[in-house]
Amino acid sequence: MLELKNVTKSYNGNVILNDMSLNVQEGEIVSILGPSGSGKTTLLNVILGITEIDQGELIYKGENLTNVPMEQRGFNIVFQDYALFPNLNAYENITYGLKNKPGISSEEEVEDLIDLLGLREHLDKRIEQLSGGQKQRVALARTMVMKPRILLLDEPLSALDGVIKESIKDRIKTIAREYHLTTIIVTHDPEEALTLSDRVLIINQGKISQYAEPAEIINRPGNHFIREFILNQLEIKRNNIFSLFQYKTA
Ligand SMILES: Nc1ncnc2c1ncn2[C@@H]1O[C@H](COP(=O)(O)OP(=O)(O)OP(=O)(O)O)[C@@H](O)[C@H]1O
Ligand SMILES: [Mg+2]
Repeated sequence: MLELKNVTKSYNGNVILNDMSLNVQEGEIVSILGPSGSGKTTLLNVILGITEIDQGELIYKGENLTNVPMEQRGFNIVFQDYALFPNLNAYENITYGLKNKPGISSEEEVEDLIDLLGLREHLDKRIEQLSGGQKQRVALARTMVMKPRILLLDEPLSALDGVIKESIKDRIKTIAREYHLTTIIVTHDPEEALTLSDRVLIINQGKISQYAEPAEIINRPGNHFIREFILNQLEIKRNNIFSLFQYKTA
């Protein structure tokens, strides 16, 4: 449905995205996973249309989007820093975009989304009165009411931890399924990528290292880089938890 064909992007002579080709199916949740500086945000910005590519093509449902400006692509992004309006309350933030494009979501749909994201009791609060996780959910709701054709998320969970992280992860999953919404989510956390998505796109130094379902990556890691950097990280995490447990019960 969304297809990137041989996309190349350089900054100041440095190749950041190197001849990337991939496709995303409708309704699919895809994680983009890779180390810092590997080109994850650049790839997301290319899809969104903030960043122009040097070579290659972007096709969406048969339409060539390569030269279509961002506003006309109908995709939307939730940035890592939320970018909410501090002078408006949570409800005003959520419905802000509908002022210019009324009717995209009905009042009932807005209310459903508020419940789905557990924001009912926070609607009158100013942004500064919200926790990080609540702000993140407001940012998600604000983007969702605009019914993007593709939802792009840049490290939406990185500022959160523990239970809140799990709960927002679940909500993203529920929303994507319920709305049959194609979702592309950037992360540098292997566990997050492997548990959240239908397919994981692992990139390293601007190249696709492996693009497969989580089980495939775990059972058949495509190369040395994936074994070393992705699966070892999970292993270390598991061993840490395990040794903590042994220590406590000893
Ligand atoms: N506007 C820009 N001008 C010049 N170089 C850029 C620009 N944007 C990104 N880069 C470079 O491109 C490379 C990839 O950056 P990108 O932000 O895509 O990485 P990332 O995978 O998102 O990293 P992180 O996990 O740290 O967010 C980096 O080396 C960065 O310095
Ligand atoms: Mg980034």
